[in-house]
Amino acid sequence: MILEKRLTAVLDAYREQDVLAKGTKINDGRIFVPTSLQEAMTLLTIGAKSGFYPNRGYFLDAGSGDGRMVALLSCLGYKAIGVEFDLELAVYSQGKLEQLKRQGAITADAKIAKGDFTDAGTYQKMGVDFQDIRNIFHGINLVSLRGLVEKIKNESPSGTTLTLYGPFGMFPEFEGLAKVSGPHRLGYVADVAYYQKCRVMNGRRLETAAQQVTAVR
Ligand SMILES: C[S@@+](CC[C@H](N)C(=O)[O-])C[C@H]1O[C@@H](n2cnc3c(N)ncnc32)[C@H](O)[C@@H]1O
Repeated sequence: MILEKRLTAVLDAYREQDVLAKGTKINDGRIFVPTSLQEAMTLLTIGAKSGFYPNRGYFLDAGSGDGRMVALLSCLGYKAIGVEFDLELAVYSQGKLEQLKRQGAITADAKIAKGDFTDAGTYQKMGVDFQDIRNIFHGINLVSLRGLVEKIKNESPSGTTLTLYGPFGMFPEFEGLAKVSGPHRLGYVADVAYYQKCRVMNGRRLETAAQQVTAVR
């Protein structure tokens, strides 16, 4: 199936949720706010054009919600995986992936595990080595973000990218990661910022994002 048709299948699969999305889905009192797929296309395009997404290794959606980013990434040719700790969302999203695989819209290797994305056991369960994940997307959740950043700092190879999507003005600086671009204004309240894991030289972080990008490539 050609890309345009596959993309349409993914957008259609989530159209109903997108209508609800401006709102929320509430699980056990928690609020679920999915990424707009239109904005996701924009942020992936900006990232890819800027050379942030080397198409090797896995592209992880950390906290994959209803699976829309995993579906979109797979459709665009990335080895897409997701991790989601809410049981209802994990089961729902796995069902969506199966549906899209049957339609031929995404590849058979796209997968989502139920678990915590900071937990080594989650990746073992899916047969994935965390070091083989080279790009990570995260719809910002300030409770879990710190743990994710620590994991990238400690375990990921230099040059691994982290893309944060969330409300305007919510993008912190992280020791060990360089903000390489952003925030880019996407929609009414949504922005995106791109980070890369820094190479550490003599215990010192490389000074500027530009230096860092040059050094890693
Ligand atoms: C803002 S939503 C984004 C969902 C999806 N990535 C998207 O872009 O539409 C954040 C999701 O992360 C999940 N989440 C938060 N912390 C997590 C953790 N430590 N491990 C796994 N999932 C987590 C939440 O349950 C929620 O579904």
